[in-house]
This record gives sequence, structure tokens and C-alpha cells, in this order.
Amino acid sequence: MLNANCKRLPCKGENAACLQGSLDTPGYDGNRVLAAIAALGRARAACACSNLAPIRLFIDTGSVAEVEEIASWGILSGATTNPSLLAKEDGDPGEIVQRICELVRGPVSAEVVSQDVESMVNEGRALRELHQHVTVKVPFNKEGLAATKALIDDGIPVNMTLVFSPNQALLAAASGATYVSCFMGRLDDISIDSAVVLEEIADTLRAGGMTSEIIAASIRHPEHVVTAARLGCEIATAPAKVLEQMLNHPLTEAGAEKFRADWESRPEFGEWLRGLTEKRLAATGS
Ligand code: G3P
Repeated sequence: MLNANCKRLPCKGENAACLQGSLDTPGYDGNRVLAAIAALGRARAACACSNLAPIRLFIDTGSVAEVEEIASWGILSGATTNPSLLAKEDGDPGEIVQRICELVRGPVSAEVVSQDVESMVNEGRALRELHQHVTVKVPFNKEGLAATKALIDDGIPVNMTLVFSPNQALLAAASGATYVSCFMGRLDDISIDSAVVLEEIADTLRAGGMTSEIIAASIRHPEHVVTAARLGCEIATAPAKVLEQMLNHPLTEAGAEKFRADWESRPEFGEWLRGLTEKRLAATGS
């Protein structure tokens, strides 16, 4: 999905054509294709119009322990909870949400559970008073749309959740939702290609000039996060397990091991670095 409106760089047709061209050219040259892909990659990166902020990573959990662990990596910009995730946890749900807000220092979604507009709005107002970082999560349906409009009019940020189609995303954005959550894993569960749906949602909201930010949710594996980033989603909210899987690459571990072994083969170098570090600490105290 490249932004057809972007005037910055020729994109979409031309770059795709370049790549396409090399694939169809007799005497196919892998290096040339690689160069074309790299050029396309750069074009996509440059094409991500200035109004598309870099993707932000949220954690999708009700577990304070998981948030404490992942927040310590310094990569989190927010969190999402839902009634199922909170129901797995012991303790007061309000205190859990407040603790997660303190840990991530960014938007934390807490979901309403009633099904009529008035009760949803009242629950949303109450959840918002838990902490300045609370975003009210509202399930997608017509009552949810009306409740979203009312909460947004109150100045309360809303994450419209359980969105599975561009039409639903358009309606959610039209109600003023701050965020629209598209559930990738649950689409894949019923053999609907979540990447296609997410791309359609991104294209539809962007082409329509909608300002709702897209949250890629129901993330089941690291590739879902990469897909969300490539499609220009503003946010990906992933379970702790997936964020941990994103850490791993065999060459990284092997490389670090080799560096350690080579360095330890020269003990005098270890001495030198320790001396350098201690000297600076003595001089600066920190
Ligand atoms: O926040 C939505 C997400 O938690 C749903 O994930 O894995 O239950 O589809 P999942």
C-alpha cells in the first residue's frame, strides 16, 4: 500500500513496474531485482507521507508482570487490555489498568462491556477517570458507534475494537474514533488473509482522509507486526510472547557469542575497558 496522493516520490505504479519488469525480463538477474526491491523499499520508506508517524509498539495484555518486563526494554508506547485479558488476572481491574498506565506512560485501552449506548458512555467516562492515559475501548456495533461519538465529544479518546472490514473501519472513523483496531489473528483463524484486509482498511481510511489511527491487534506472531509496519499502520499491539519472539535471530546470538569469546581471548583488553569505565565513573560519578 503506497499513498497514491503522495507527491514526494513516484511510487505505486512505477516502482512496482520496475520490480515487475525485472521479473518478466528474459535472463532474469537476481541482483537487479534485489536492487529494484531495495529501491522500492526506499521509495516505500520515503513514500510514508510526513503525516504517517513511525509505527508504535503496544503490549496487549492484562498482566502487570508482563508489562513491567517489556516496559524495561524501553520499546513500549502504550498498551491494550480487553475483558478476556483482564479476566485472566487476579486483583482489582482498576488498579491493574492504573499500574499499566504508570508503566507504559502512553495510551492504555480499557474496554466497556455494556451493550446499550447510555451504559457504554457512563462506563467509558468512569474508566477514563482511572488515569489520564486511559483510552476507552468500545466494541464495534451501532450502539458502539453512538457511544464513541458521545465519548469523543466529551474529549475522551476511543479505541473502536473488533473491526474486521474496511466498511466497519470507515464507520468507526466516521464516528470520530481515535483508534480503529483490526484483529489480524481472528481473520486468519477463518482463512481470511488479514494482510489484505489491513491493507484495504489503511487504503480506505487514508484515501478518505480519515484521521483515526490503525491498531493492528490480535497479533499471533512476529510477521504480523512486520506486515502492520509495512502497511503503514500507526500502532501494532502484541502479546508479550510475540514481542519476545521478535527479539530472536540465530545469527544475533551466535554473533554476540563470538564477540564475547574473541574479546575474552585477550584478557588485557578486558582490563583496559574496565579501567576506562572505572576512570570515567570516578570522574563523573555516573
Ligand atoms: O486486544 C485484542 C486481542 O487481545 C485479541 O487477540 O489473540 O484473542 O485474537 P486474540
